[in-house]
Amino acid sequence: MESKIWCLRLQRGGRGSGRVTIGHVIGGAVAKKLLNTLNIKVISHVSQVGTIKANPVNVNELETNINQNSVRCADLEAAERMEAEIIETKKVGDSIGGIVETVVLNSPAGLGDPVFGKLDAELAGGLMGIGSVKGVEIGLGFKSAELKGSQMNDEFLIEANTIKTRTNHSGGILGGITTGMPINIRMAVKPTPSISLTQKTVDTKSMESKDILIQGRHDPCICPRVTTVAEATVSIILADQLIRAGYIDPCKL
Ligand SMILES: Cc1cc2nc3c(=O)[nH]c(=O)nc-3n(C[C@H](O)[C@H](O)[C@H](O)COP(=O)(O)O)c2cc1C
Repeated sequence: MESKIWCLRLQRGGRGSGRVTIGHVIGGAVAKKLLNTLNIKVISHVSQVGTIKANPVNVNELETNINQNSVRCADLEAAERMEAEIIETKKVGDSIGGIVETVVLNSPAGLGDPVFGKLDAELAGGLMGIGSVKGVEIGLGFKSAELKGSQMNDEFLIEANTIKTRTNHSGGILGGITTGMPINIRMAVKPTPSISLTQKTVDTKSMESKDILIQGRHDPCICPRVTTVAEATVSIILADQLIRAGYIDPCKL
Protein backbone atom coordinates (compact mmCIF):
# COMPACT_ATOMS: atom_id res chain seq x y z
CA MET A 1 0.00 0.00 0.00
CA GLU A 2 2.70 2.45 1.05
CA SER A 3 4.69 1.79 -2.13
CA LYS A 4 1.56 2.43 -4.26
CA ILE A 5 1.01 5.78 -2.56
CA TRP A 6 4.65 6.65 -3.09
CA CYS A 7 4.38 5.79 -6.83
CA LEU A 8 1.30 7.99 -7.09
CA ARG A 9 3.14 10.84 -5.45
CA LEU A 10 6.03 10.42 -7.83
CA GLN A 11 3.69 10.30 -10.84
CA ARG A 12 1.95 13.50 -9.88
CA GLY A 13 5.16 15.11 -8.69
CA GLY A 14 3.04 17.15 -6.26
CA ARG A 15 5.36 17.30 -3.28
CA GLY A 16 8.35 18.30 -5.38
CA SER A 17 6.45 20.62 -7.70
CA GLY A 18 7.03 24.35 -7.75
CA ARG A 19 3.31 24.67 -6.91
CA VAL A 20 4.03 23.87 -3.25
CA THR A 21 5.88 27.19 -3.01
CA ILE A 22 2.59 29.13 -3.15
CA GLY A 23 2.67 29.07 0.67
CA HIS A 24 6.12 30.68 0.67
CA VAL A 25 4.94 33.40 -1.69
CA ILE A 26 1.73 34.19 0.24
CA GLY A 27 3.62 34.36 3.55
CA GLY A 28 6.37 36.36 1.87
CA ALA A 29 3.90 38.97 0.62
CA VAL A 30 2.74 39.61 4.21
CA ALA A 31 6.33 39.57 5.52
CA LYS A 32 7.42 42.06 2.86
CA LYS A 33 4.75 44.50 4.02
CA LEU A 34 6.17 44.26 7.55
CA LEU A 35 9.72 44.80 6.26
CA ASN A 36 8.55 47.83 4.24
CA THR A 37 7.53 49.57 7.47
CA LEU A 38 11.24 49.52 8.41
CA ASN A 39 12.46 50.32 4.87
CA ILE A 40 14.10 46.88 4.64
CA LYS A 41 14.38 45.61 1.06
CA VAL A 42 14.85 42.02 -0.09
CA ILE A 43 15.83 41.67 -3.76
CA SER A 44 16.56 38.44 -5.65
CA HIS A 45 18.08 38.09 -9.10
CA VAL A 46 19.63 35.47 -11.36
CA SER A 47 23.42 35.87 -11.51
CA GLN A 48 24.28 32.72 -13.47
CA VAL A 49 22.64 30.33 -15.93
CA GLY A 50 24.76 27.30 -16.75
CA THR A 51 28.24 28.76 -17.29
CA ILE A 52 26.99 32.25 -18.25
CA LYS A 53 27.82 34.63 -15.41
CA ALA A 54 26.41 38.13 -14.88
CA ASN A 55 28.74 41.00 -14.03
CA PRO A 56 28.00 42.64 -10.67
CA VAL A 57 25.51 45.52 -10.97
CA ASN A 58 25.17 48.54 -8.66
CA VAL A 59 22.64 47.69 -5.98
CA ASN A 60 20.54 50.78 -6.84
CA GLU A 61 20.01 49.48 -10.40
CA LEU A 62 19.14 45.91 -9.41
CA GLU A 63 15.35 46.20 -9.29
CA THR A 64 14.99 48.32 -12.45
CA ASN A 65 17.21 45.99 -14.49
CA ILE A 66 15.70 42.74 -13.21
CA ASN A 67 12.25 43.83 -14.35
CA GLN A 68 13.50 44.49 -17.89
CA ASN A 69 14.09 40.85 -18.86
CA SER A 70 12.41 37.48 -18.48
CA VAL A 71 15.49 35.86 -16.89
CA ARG A 72 15.42 38.35 -13.98
CA CYS A 73 19.13 39.09 -14.39
CA ALA A 74 20.44 42.56 -13.50
CA ASP A 75 23.27 42.50 -16.09
CA LEU A 76 21.24 43.20 -19.23
CA GLU A 77 23.90 42.00 -21.66
CA ALA A 78 24.35 38.69 -19.80
CA ALA A 79 20.54 38.38 -19.58
CA GLU A 80 20.32 38.21 -23.38
CA ARG A 81 22.93 35.45 -23.53
CA MET A 82 21.19 33.56 -20.70
CA GLU A 83 17.86 33.76 -22.51
CA ALA A 84 19.43 32.43 -25.73
CA GLU A 85 21.07 29.59 -23.78
CA ILE A 86 17.76 28.63 -22.14
CA ILE A 87 15.98 28.63 -25.52
CA GLU A 88 18.72 26.45 -27.07
CA THR A 89 18.55 24.05 -24.10
CA LYS A 90 14.76 23.78 -24.43
CA LYS A 91 15.04 23.08 -28.18
CA VAL A 92 17.05 19.92 -27.50
CA GLY A 93 14.62 18.84 -24.73
CA ASP A 94 17.04 19.50 -21.89
CA SER A 95 17.11 21.79 -18.82
CA ILE A 96 19.75 24.00 -17.20
CA GLY A 97 20.62 25.18 -13.67
CA GLY A 98 22.04 28.42 -12.33
CA ILE A 99 22.62 30.72 -9.39
CA VAL A 100 20.07 32.96 -7.66
CA GLU A 101 21.32 35.76 -5.42
CA THR A 102 19.36 37.55 -2.71
CA VAL A 103 20.42 40.80 -1.11
CA VAL A 104 18.84 42.37 1.99
CA LEU A 105 19.28 46.13 2.36
CA ASN A 106 18.82 48.27 5.50
CA SER A 107 18.68 45.36 7.95
CA PRO A 108 19.44 46.52 11.50
CA ALA A 109 22.47 45.07 13.29
CA GLY A 110 21.92 42.37 15.91
CA LEU A 111 19.23 40.14 14.35
CA GLY A 112 19.69 36.42 14.98
CA ASP A 113 21.14 34.31 17.79
CA PRO A 114 24.84 33.74 18.42
CA VAL A 115 24.67 29.98 19.11
CA PHE A 116 21.30 28.20 18.66
CA GLY A 117 19.40 29.65 15.73
CA LYS A 118 22.27 31.53 14.09
CA LEU A 119 20.82 33.67 11.32
CA ASP A 120 23.07 31.90 8.76
CA ALA A 121 21.52 28.58 9.81
CA GLU A 122 17.96 29.94 9.71
CA LEU A 123 18.46 31.33 6.21
CA ALA A 124 20.29 28.27 4.87
CA GLY A 125 17.63 25.95 6.33
CA GLY A 126 14.77 27.93 4.83
CA LEU A 127 16.40 28.30 1.43
CA MET A 128 17.58 24.68 1.21
CA GLY A 129 13.92 23.83 1.84
CA ILE A 130 13.03 25.23 -1.59
CA GLY A 131 12.91 22.42 -4.16
CA SER A 132 15.92 22.50 -6.54
CA VAL A 133 18.20 24.53 -4.22
CA LYS A 134 21.29 22.39 -3.70
CA GLY A 135 23.62 24.86 -2.03
CA VAL A 136 23.49 28.12 -0.07
CA GLU A 137 26.41 30.52 0.44
CA ILE A 138 26.47 33.60 2.65
CA GLY A 139 29.01 36.29 1.82
CA LEU A 140 32.11 34.77 0.25
CA GLY A 141 30.79 31.30 1.14
CA PHE A 142 32.91 28.48 -0.29
CA LYS A 143 35.49 30.99 -1.60
CA SER A 144 36.37 31.80 2.05
CA ALA A 145 37.99 28.35 2.31
CA GLU A 146 40.80 29.59 0.00
CA LEU A 147 41.57 32.75 1.99
CA LYS A 148 43.77 33.85 4.88
CA GLY A 149 42.18 35.54 7.89
CA SER A 150 43.79 38.83 6.84
CA GLN A 151 41.98 38.58 3.49
CA MET A 152 38.64 37.43 4.89
CA ASN A 153 38.24 39.77 7.89
CA ASP A 154 36.02 42.79 7.37
CA GLU A 155 37.62 45.85 8.96
CA PHE A 156 35.33 48.06 11.03
CA LEU A 157 35.06 51.82 10.53
CA ILE A 158 32.80 54.69 11.55
CA GLU A 159 30.88 56.40 8.75
CA ALA A 160 28.32 59.15 9.46
CA ASN A 161 28.27 58.12 13.11
CA THR A 162 27.43 54.50 12.18
CA ILE A 163 29.61 51.41 12.59
CA LYS A 164 30.23 49.78 9.21
CA THR A 165 32.75 47.40 7.66
CA ARG A 166 35.14 48.38 4.85
CA THR A 167 34.41 45.11 2.99
CA ASN A 168 31.48 42.73 3.39
CA HIS A 169 33.03 39.28 2.96
CA SER A 170 30.90 37.93 5.79
CA GLY A 171 27.77 38.81 3.79
CA GLY A 172 26.26 40.93 6.56
CA ILE A 173 26.28 38.19 9.23
CA LEU A 174 29.00 37.62 11.84
CA GLY A 175 28.73 35.20 14.75
CA GLY A 176 25.16 34.37 13.78
CA ILE A 177 23.86 37.95 13.98
CA THR A 178 23.51 40.75 11.45
CA THR A 179 26.22 43.42 11.25
CA GLY A 180 23.96 46.03 9.64
CA MET A 181 25.76 45.63 6.30
CA PRO A 182 23.81 44.20 3.32
CA ILE A 183 23.06 40.46 3.69
CA ASN A 184 24.33 38.66 0.59
CA ILE A 185 23.12 35.13 -0.17
CA ARG A 186 23.77 32.87 -3.19
CA MET A 187 21.86 29.69 -4.04
CA ALA A 188 22.81 26.91 -6.45
CA VAL A 189 19.69 25.84 -8.36
CA LYS A 190 19.82 22.45 -10.06
CA PRO A 191 18.51 21.88 -13.60
CA THR A 192 14.86 20.77 -13.63
CA PRO A 193 14.69 16.95 -13.64
CA SER A 194 11.61 16.69 -15.91
CA ILE A 195 13.35 16.95 -19.27
CA SER A 196 11.91 16.01 -22.67
CA LEU A 197 14.58 13.42 -23.41
CA THR A 198 14.17 9.68 -23.02
CA GLN A 199 15.78 8.50 -19.79
CA LYS A 200 16.25 5.22 -18.01
CA THR A 201 14.13 4.31 -14.98
CA VAL A 202 12.79 1.17 -13.28
CA ASP A 203 9.33 -0.41 -13.30
CA THR A 204 8.50 -0.94 -9.61
CA LYS A 205 6.01 -3.76 -10.43
CA SER A 206 8.18 -5.87 -12.71
CA MET A 207 11.41 -4.64 -11.10
CA GLU A 208 12.87 -4.22 -14.57
CA SER A 209 14.67 -1.39 -16.30
CA LYS A 210 12.53 0.68 -18.70
CA ASP A 211 12.56 3.91 -20.70
CA ILE A 212 10.64 6.98 -19.58
CA LEU A 213 9.67 10.08 -21.58
CA ILE A 214 8.10 12.77 -19.42
CA GLN A 215 5.16 14.60 -21.03
CA GLY A 216 3.66 17.99 -20.25
CA ARG A 217 4.87 21.54 -19.79
CA HIS A 218 8.15 21.94 -17.96
CA ASP A 219 10.43 24.91 -17.50
CA PRO A 220 13.90 24.45 -19.00
CA CYS A 221 15.31 26.78 -16.28
CA ILE A 222 13.50 27.59 -13.04
CA CYS A 223 15.99 30.16 -11.74
CA PRO A 224 13.74 33.14 -12.60
CA ARG A 225 10.89 31.52 -10.63
CA VAL A 226 13.17 30.67 -7.71
CA THR A 227 13.98 34.40 -7.32
CA THR A 228 10.37 34.98 -6.17
CA VAL A 229 10.38 32.04 -3.75
CA ALA A 230 13.80 32.96 -2.32
CA GLU A 231 12.73 36.58 -1.80
CA ALA A 232 9.59 35.37 0.02
CA THR A 233 11.51 32.88 2.18
CA VAL A 234 14.13 35.42 3.27
CA SER A 235 11.41 38.00 3.99
CA ILE A 236 9.53 35.55 6.25
CA ILE A 237 12.69 34.64 8.20
CA LEU A 238 13.63 38.30 8.65
CA ALA A 239 10.13 39.37 9.68
CA ASP A 240 10.22 36.63 12.32
CA GLN A 241 13.60 37.87 13.58
CA LEU A 242 12.38 41.49 13.64
CA ILE A 243 9.35 40.51 15.75
CA ARG A 244 11.59 38.55 18.15
CA ALA A 245 14.00 41.49 18.43
CA GLY A 246 11.16 43.93 19.17
CA TYR A 247 11.40 45.96 15.94
CA ILE A 248 7.89 44.86 14.97
CA ASP A 249 5.17 44.56 17.61
CA PRO A 250 2.81 41.69 16.59
CA CYS A 251 0.12 43.07 18.95
CA LYS A 252 -0.03 46.29 16.94
CA LEU A 253 -0.22 44.69 13.47
C1 LIG B 1 9.52 27.52 -8.42
C2 LIG B 1 9.77 26.08 -8.81
C3 LIG B 1 9.41 25.62 -10.07
C4 LIG B 1 9.64 24.30 -10.43
N1 LIG B 1 9.35 23.88 -11.71
C5 LIG B 1 9.71 22.63 -12.12
C6 LIG B 1 9.56 22.19 -13.47
O1 LIG B 1 9.06 22.93 -14.34
N2 LIG B 1 10.00 20.95 -13.78
C7 LIG B 1 10.56 20.11 -12.84
O2 LIG B 1 10.97 19.01 -13.17
N3 LIG B 1 10.68 20.49 -11.57
C8 LIG B 1 10.29 21.71 -11.19
N4 LIG B 1 10.46 22.09 -9.88
C9 LIG B 1 10.90 21.07 -8.90
C10 LIG B 1 12.39 21.09 -8.69
O3 LIG B 1 13.09 21.11 -9.90
C11 LIG B 1 12.89 19.88 -7.90
O4 LIG B 1 13.02 18.80 -8.75
C12 LIG B 1 12.03 19.34 -6.81
O5 LIG B 1 11.51 20.36 -6.02
C13 LIG B 1 12.85 18.40 -5.91
O6 LIG B 1 13.96 19.11 -5.53
P1 LIG B 1 15.11 18.59 -4.59
O7 LIG B 1 15.80 17.48 -5.30
O8 LIG B 1 15.98 19.79 -4.41
O9 LIG B 1 14.44 18.15 -3.34
C14 LIG B 1 10.22 23.40 -9.50
C15 LIG B 1 10.57 23.87 -8.22
C16 LIG B 1 10.36 25.19 -7.87
C17 LIG B 1 10.77 25.67 -6.49
